[in-house]
Amino acid sequence: MIWDYYNGKTLFITGGTGFIGTALLCRLLSQSSPKRVYVLCRGGADKAKAKWSDMLPPSAAQILTDNERMTILDGELGNTATMSLPEETIQMLKWKVHIVIHIAASAQLQNSLRELAYNVLAPSICLTQYALKFPNLERYVYFSTAYANAHLWKSNESTDVSVDERVYPLGREEEDYYKIALEAWSAVQKTGSSDEYDAHDFPWPYAYAKHLAERLVLQKAAERNKMDKVLIIRPSVLGPADKFPYPGFATSHGAPSTICAAEFMLHPGRRIRLSTRCQNPEQESTIDEVPVDVVVDRTLVHVALRTSGCIHAVSGEQGRLSTEEWWRAFKKERQLPWNAKPSWVSDDWHSPDLHQMARRFKIIGTSFAFSQERTVKAVEKLGDGEKENLQLFADRSKPYSLHLRRHHIRHQAIEVAKKKKWPIFSASLLCRKGKPVACLDENVKA
Ligand SMILES: NC(=O)c1ccc[n+]([C@@H]2O[C@H](COP(=O)([O-])OP(=O)(O)OC[C@H]3O[C@@H](n4cnc5c(N)ncnc54)[C@H](OP(=O)(O)O)[C@@H]3O)[C@@H](O)[C@H]2O)c1
Repeated sequence: MIWDYYNGKTLFITGGTGFIGTALLCRLLSQSSPKRVYVLCRGGADKAKAKWSDMLPPSAAQILTDNERMTILDGELGNTATMSLPEETIQMLKWKVHIVIHIAASAQLQNSLRELAYNVLAPSICLTQYALKFPNLERYVYFSTAYANAHLWKSNESTDVSVDERVYPLGREEEDYYKIALEAWSAVQKTGSSDEYDAHDFPWPYAYAKHLAERLVLQKAAERNKMDKVLIIRPSVLGPADKFPYPGFATSHGAPSTICAAEFMLHPGRRIRLSTRCQNPEQESTIDEVPVDVVVDRTLVHVALRTSGCIHAVSGEQGRLSTEEWWRAFKKERQLPWNAKPSWVSDDWHSPDLHQMARRFKIIGTSFAFSQERTVKAVEKLGDGEKENLQLFADRSKPYSLHLRRHHIRHQAIEVAKKKKWPIFSASLLCRKGKPVACLDENVKA
């Protein structure tokens, strides 16, 4: 059984108070009996418990707040391996931990590469180097993004770009891409950019930072002959849970398409200017939104099966949405009596003339077919009973809907209204009322 793998193991987890981290801890601690789970949290136990109590209903929060198997370490990732932890804690982790799951990142899509060098790359490299020295290390998991390869949209002419679960070198295939990664990292530290970054059109510096971080993590593993221990998880666009810890679980800022819905909800015009190269963008352009519990279960299954290399945690070709489907769901939520529709143009994805959501998310109007072959293969190794209780693929048996996230859309819309200095009641009027899904008792089966 997958869950048996975790029994008696000691884990160290970063990002445990975020969207993925919270869902992962709930799942792990409700299904298995690890010996101990150490969770790094800025602000320590009080802060972590306050965050979990805020985002989860009491029955689910309790799994985390009153768990005798969990120890919260008050520390912070930075550009040293110490994570602001006392030396004895650092030594204790080194000797005890079997599995490291590094989820944390304080990344914003609009961050510059210089900022990302400090808050994504340096902490990940330091943690990787430190963890790979653990004598009992069995698995090291690094969270990247499926859009680490989004530059392929620009280097490809297809209107549906296939992305495999592998590293796409930014130089020539035959070059030593680990060496190139080290050179690029050195350039990013010195100048805030690199030749390979300048040579490729990534939607955001964040995508390139994750691309580089993946290669540096693998380079450190190769140096120590530990490639077989490293797993890179690439989620696409996170969406609310299908099932665990309860249907609709999300954090208020965690799901990008909720943020889009809130912005479009307040759009006063009839047209929303978006960019695409597709002939029939409504049908051809797609959004790969993946329920957070699919990300969690894929991670925990691949760790237990000792998969190494890159894994896509995505909805994939079968589960992704066409823009038309997303728009249909959005229309049901919008309160303004007139319709707001996409107005498709062929501008570049960096064009300042696009709607601000298109300028921020860039991938609206594109289409990526992320392979999930390695999960399909992994499922073949699982027994029937085991498969049934895992959420490894997005459930698209019902039409896509935004109704379970009304509460978060409204919350986001109020934030948008505040930023625009609009009266807050405008946001309340323009968004449908919804209870937090966690309040709907039938949804919560902790
Ligand atoms: N959201 C998406 O759509 C998406 C898509 C693809 C990939 N990803 C990747 O998935 C990972 C998790 O995403 P998420 O949405 O779960 O993130 P999130 O909700 O924003 O949570 C981020 C977590 O990282 C922690 N953290 C940030 N900086 C830290 C630092 N310097 N030291 C210690 N902890 C720090 C935060 O702790 P605090 O509680 O202290 O703030 C929080 O627990 C990230 O690597 C992200 O890049 C996300």
